[in-house]
Amino acid sequence: MLNRVAVDLGVRSYEVRIGQGLLARAGAEIAPLLRRKRVAVVTDETVATRHLAALTAALTAEGITSTALSLPAGEGTKNWANLARCTEWLLEQKVERKDVVLALGGGVIGDLVGFSAAILRRGVRFVQLPTTLLAQVDSSVGGKTGINTAQGKNLVGAFHQPSLVLADIDVLSTLPDRDLLSGYGEVVKYGLLGDAAFFDWLERDGPALRQGDAAVRLRAVTRSVEMKAGIVSRDETEEGERALLNLGHTFCHALEKATGYSDRLLHGEGVAIGCALAFELSSRLGLCSQEEPSRVRAHLKAMGIKVDIRDIPGDLPGAETLIGLMGQDKKVVDGKLRFILARGIGQAFVADDVPGDKVRAVLDDALRS
Ligand SMILES: NC(=O)c1ccc[n+]([C@@H]2O[C@H](COP(=O)([O-])OP(=O)(O)OC[C@H]3O[C@@H](n4cnc5c(N)ncnc54)[C@H](O)[C@@H]3O)[C@@H](O)[C@H]2O)c1
Repeated sequence: MLNRVAVDLGVRSYEVRIGQGLLARAGAEIAPLLRRKRVAVVTDETVATRHLAALTAALTAEGITSTALSLPAGEGTKNWANLARCTEWLLEQKVERKDVVLALGGGVIGDLVGFSAAILRRGVRFVQLPTTLLAQVDSSVGGKTGINTAQGKNLVGAFHQPSLVLADIDVLSTLPDRDLLSGYGEVVKYGLLGDAAFFDWLERDGPALRQGDAAVRLRAVTRSVEMKAGIVSRDETEEGERALLNLGHTFCHALEKATGYSDRLLHGEGVAIGCALAFELSSRLGLCSQEEPSRVRAHLKAMGIKVDIRDIPGDLPGAETLIGLMGQDKKVVDGKLRFILARGIGQAFVADDVPGDKVRAVLDDALRS
């Protein structure tokens, strides 16, 4: 079964195709985009060992020749040095203005290669072939591309929409459980921010997703992509509604900075903890009932994903420092903070006037408990 989700952005519209066996059919899926039967593939070393041969064979089967570059795996790759390496390699491969670049990998490869495609010859087209759950449900859709710098994460980048996204559910079978669960943090986020029925379904079928049920994975990825595509189509450059996708992210960013973007905390794990904290904060502000944060936490715990700050190994700084790391210190001076909060499961909204002392209290309790 192949599901298709449209991202409607006028001349920059594209389709996200989600299904099984898509990598093996990638040549046929991509061929209509090509002016000449040649592509450049960029991936990471881990993904290359598992899935590059299948992609190359699929391209060859359609008469498409390809060259490939494998970069080191991991968040550290999303930097200036690899942006230069990737972009110069694409130039050496004589990628021209009308050619198409393929990004095969997780969010790191998608973000880096997408940015490289955005600046190469002032913009060449690219196709996302996301291989992590996080990349399939989130980073491959919406056109945010970029790298990290010494000053922080994703501070340099561009909006550059892909021409096509091919999310093959089967490639998730080689993904380590921890990376799968990290991606699940973003899946849950969609239910929490705007679709209570989806969250109900995840409470029931989430464990089957973790165990590898293809039908459940297909449905979870498709619903997540539908929600992201809808939001991006209405607000491509985050003037308003797209900010809802940041549910849990303000807490997450502080925790990621505090843990040095290391293996102590994966991005989706931080999102899961951040969502639980955002619901706790919402409840303490009287926006939703006390049962809602309990329900969020219970589901995350049942799935085996990190849910409490205390689940992060090693020491963490205090609440005040964490608030500083949210990059919101200027706003703290005025005593108000900007957060995505919720009036209930599936009912997130942007709050610009969150009292700093309430945030501090939530963090103090989370660090103590
Ligand atoms: N652009 C966006 O809108 C957006 C949204 C969310 C996150 N992101 C970015 O995404 C990045 C995180 O993405 P990620 O979690 O996919 O990390 P990742 O790309 O580092 O992948 C995680 C690990 O899984 C390995 N891997 C990937 N696919 C595999 C497979 N099928 N089998 C076995 N191993 C596989 C990778 O080699 C890597 O070691 C962050 O840099 C984050 O900033 C971007």
